[in-house]
Amino acid sequence: MAKEGEVVCVTGGSGCIGSWLVRELLDRGYTVHATVQDLKDESETKHLESLEGAETRLRLFQIELLDYASVLRALTGCAGVFHLASPCIVDQVHDPEKQLLDPAIKGTINVLTAAKEAGVSRVVVTSSISSITPSPNWPADVVKAEDCWSDIEYCKRKEAWDFSKEKGLDVVVVNPGTVMGPVIPPKLNASMLMLVRLLQGCTETYENFFMGSVHFKDVALAHILVYENKSATGRHLCVEAISHYGDFVAKVAELYPEYKVPRLPKDTQPGLLRVKDGSKKLDGLGLTIHSHGANYQGSC
Ligand SMILES: NC(=O)c1ccc[n+]([C@@H]2O[C@H](COP(=O)([O-])OP(=O)(O)OC[C@H]3O[C@@H](n4cnc5c(N)ncnc54)[C@H](OP(=O)(O)O)[C@@H]3O)[C@@H](O)[C@H]2O)c1
Repeated sequence: MAKEGEVVCVTGGSGCIGSWLVRELLDRGYTVHATVQDLKDESETKHLESLEGAETRLRLFQIELLDYASVLRALTGCAGVFHLASPCIVDQVHDPEKQLLDPAIKGTINVLTAAKEAGVSRVVVTSSISSITPSPNWPADVVKAEDCWSDIEYCKRKEAWDFSKEKGLDVVVVNPGTVMGPVIPPKLNASMLMLVRLLQGCTETYENFFMGSVHFKDVALAHILVYENKSATGRHLCVEAISHYGDFVAKVAELYPEYKVPRLPKDTQPGLLRVKDGSKKLDGLGLTIHSHGANYQGSC
């Protein structure tokens, strides 16, 4: 259960999911250390400072994931950490090692090391449903569910699990699908940018692509649930529904007839991945994932 005044850190607090999480944590009485990359940039700070409860219970920290000292400062004094900060780039990546892998992998190790040093009791890491996609040895005729994960060498986040096992750090993971809904920060994240491009008529198709959409608020609540519920272990898929990308695009076209959303042929995604019981573990912990975030309309 949440303890009034308990201090937790949200890395990537300025981001789209991070801002929702900070909001829900403040609403529950937590004191929150939220990290941003540039304290002088109002587009990273203002929306957080205007949240209810922020005046007395929010502290902002400037971090760079590869700068250990900055990470440790943000985590010091925290009972828990939600690690969301990660570069999320939709456009072409020129140097994947430097732009994506280093901040994602070394950054995660820095956060876990700092969490251990700061005496944090539980770390919730935000991974992704994508971590179940590259599993070449999974039998083609067996539906993927929470017992199927990327071949471990294939998925470099293995290092985080090894670290937590070796150092005895309590780590639990949330694996959201494509997160959508009302956006709190003034900047769009990758998933919302994808939706905007679709509304603008983008006809790009993705091979072997499926959509497991989920509302920002459900993802934020899932993070809090696995943090507070000490029986939660391992990884937790967090999706409302899995659909063929073509069906998702058709649904967007139906919902927003005033936009020029393209019609995609059904067979653009021949090897569609099927995922069963998307959020079974979270269901078991008591989370109800809302259909298209229906109950949350207008809540932001
Ligand atoms: N959106 C989705 O559909 C989705 C699905 C599954 C998993 N996820 C995961 O959820 C997490 C949050 O995603 P999001 O959609 O909320 O993305 P976002 O809005 O782009 O937020 C990313 C956050 O990470 C911070 N960040 C990026 N690089 C950093 C660095 N080198 N050092 C310190 N902070 C850094 C950003 O800081 P600034 O704001 O200061 O730049 C921002 O706060 C990510 O780990 C992402 O992989 C997202």
